[in-house]
Amino acid sequence: MSKMKGRSLISITDYTKEDILKILDLAEEFEKNPRQNILNGHVIASLFFEPSTRTRLSFESAVQYLGGRIVGFASADTSSVKKGESLKDTILTVSNYSDLIVMRNPLDGSARFASEVSPVPIINAGDGANQHPTQCLLDLYSIRKTQGQLENIEIAMVGDLKYGRTVHSLVQALSLFNAKFHFVSPESLKMPSSVKTVIKNAGLEYFQYTELSDVIPFTDILYMTRIQGERFPDPLEYEKVKNSYILTNSMLEGSKETMKVLHPLPRVNEITEDVDDNPKAYYFQQARNGVYVRQALIAAILGLK
Ligand code: CP
Repeated sequence: MSKMKGRSLISITDYTKEDILKILDLAEEFEKNPRQNILNGHVIASLFFEPSTRTRLSFESAVQYLGGRIVGFASADTSSVKKGESLKDTILTVSNYSDLIVMRNPLDGSARFASEVSPVPIINAGDGANQHPTQCLLDLYSIRKTQGQLENIEIAMVGDLKYGRTVHSLVQALSLFNAKFHFVSPESLKMPSSVKTVIKNAGLEYFQYTELSDVIPFTDILYMTRIQGERFPDPLEYEKVKNSYILTNSMLEGSKETMKVLHPLPRVNEITEDVDDNPKAYYFQQARNGVYVRQALIAAILGLK
């Protein structure tokens, strides 16, 4: 029986290397056979207090391809939160109606709080600038699928490394796999010290840059991110940095043959559309991988695989 059975997933650090590999292997099985009736009779709740396209809809697809039912809301405005209901009361109520709760919330730490009060497992679908562990798992899946392995990858993370929750989770996970990290950001959006400490504690190296062109020749994975305008306390500060990095197709000349461009999406203008037809562009396949990884997670947490 799965070690993940009945356990919430709040931070990628809740999972060991063995747990992560188990989910990736299961996801490979679901990619080969995504339509199975294993969730028949199960109800999953999907509570999105913050906008989403990929995470919410890929969870919904994952559940429906597996024969389960999904209930929930896509905006806090259509729930009783709008009338002042607390997160605790919302979670205690929804746990009466479901076997598992998937939640996105703009507050850092809200998912951990929800898991502490909930009688059913919680999957964190993104809490503020903190963590996005399911995105991290699909990023790892995409890296392994395109590079043939997860060990010893050189990865360049570009853009908003301060507020971007996906890069925080991904650094923590890749620190288990002997990665070498290259961080490209404006001075004001550097990777937080707490995340860099994880790298140091793992005995690994990171390098910091302000120019995107510096990392393109040698990186295995070019992980672009959006500048997270919604998290800036001062909109004028966002205006100063919003167009810091724009990847164009011609900039990929001279990159490694096997290099892939990843992006958790949505993009605003950090990758121009002429990159989309380059075989090195992998971000839409990356989003597709989210279905298989989320199927694997749900099956493992419900003890069905
Ligand atoms: N990658 C990601 O979290 O996308 P959404 O915000 O559309 O869910």
